[in-house]
Amino acid sequence: GTTLGASAAEKGRYFGTAVAANKLSDSTYVGILNREFNSVTAENEMKWDATEPSQNQFNYANADRIVNSARANGQQVRGHALAWHSQQPGWAQNMSGTALRNAMLNHVTQVATYYRGKISAWDVVNEAFADGGGGGRRDSNLQRTGNDWIEAAFRAARAADPGAKLCYNDYNTDGQNAKSNAVYAMVQDFRSRGVPIDCVGFQSHFNAQSPVPNDYQANLQRFANLGVDVQITELDIEGSGTTQANNFGRVVQACLAVTRCTGITVWGIRDTDSWRASGTPLLFDGSGNKKAAYTSTLNAL
Ligand code: XIL
Repeated sequence: GTTLGASAAEKGRYFGTAVAANKLSDSTYVGILNREFNSVTAENEMKWDATEPSQNQFNYANADRIVNSARANGQQVRGHALAWHSQQPGWAQNMSGTALRNAMLNHVTQVATYYRGKISAWDVVNEAFADGGGGGRRDSNLQRTGNDWIEAAFRAARAADPGAKLCYNDYNTDGQNAKSNAVYAMVQDFRSRGVPIDCVGFQSHFNAQSPVPNDYQANLQRFANLGVDVQITELDIEGSGTTQANNFGRVVQACLAVTRCTGITVWGIRDTDSWRASGTPLLFDGSGNKKAAYTSTLNAL
């Protein structure tokens, strides 16, 4: 294929990007978006603070702009994210216990129901495990409602949209380490007890401190062997030139080598669209020109 999406589709995969609703009026941005990508993720517009700014008052205006654009252009939509410790509305940040648990479950149910039939995969729970060697859960207001909050969220999502794949998504889980081992144990437990989980998302934000791991493919494969799909959900790689290009190629190769790695999403289009305050971690430069990283990604697909 001559585009990322078409080439991925030839391999039975998707190639997606994060999209910001306020850039859908930028013709350079939209031109690349609809030429290259066949999946989109709302960068912020489906998060809890965006969709439920006041309790039980839902606002889907910006998320709908992204979903409607995607549907008009034949792109799948990854839903991101139903339950997360970050980007919660103020009212939820101040809640705890049963009230917070019920508010979270209501949020999952309402949002997944609203988008039922339009979402290929939901990040039901995002970033629930702690960094470092402890292999434990991240402390958060959601975690303090009880260790079973994650499975409760997945059950609510399944009931609301039985057709969407349900993913657990996290960062620093791309290679085998204490954190990914802990996520692995949770997924294994969920599969053995029939808790509905279909996929694991690996954010894959890479830089000098956190490079593409040598055991990336092996780590994706061990999760796939649990009977779930794996997806690369927020890819960006700091750097430039040939080194960066080779790293993007390695990521694509690792995914394609794992049968159940169903797609890759980059976290933005142009370097200037990146959430990273500085640096050049994406596939297109600030003017929308293809970088060496783009060419190596396309060639690896
Ligand atoms: C980031 C967005 O890109 C930023 O615009 C926002 O200010 C903060 O969140 N992990 C995730 C994403 O799961 O939702 C985050 O997105 C990046 C890290």
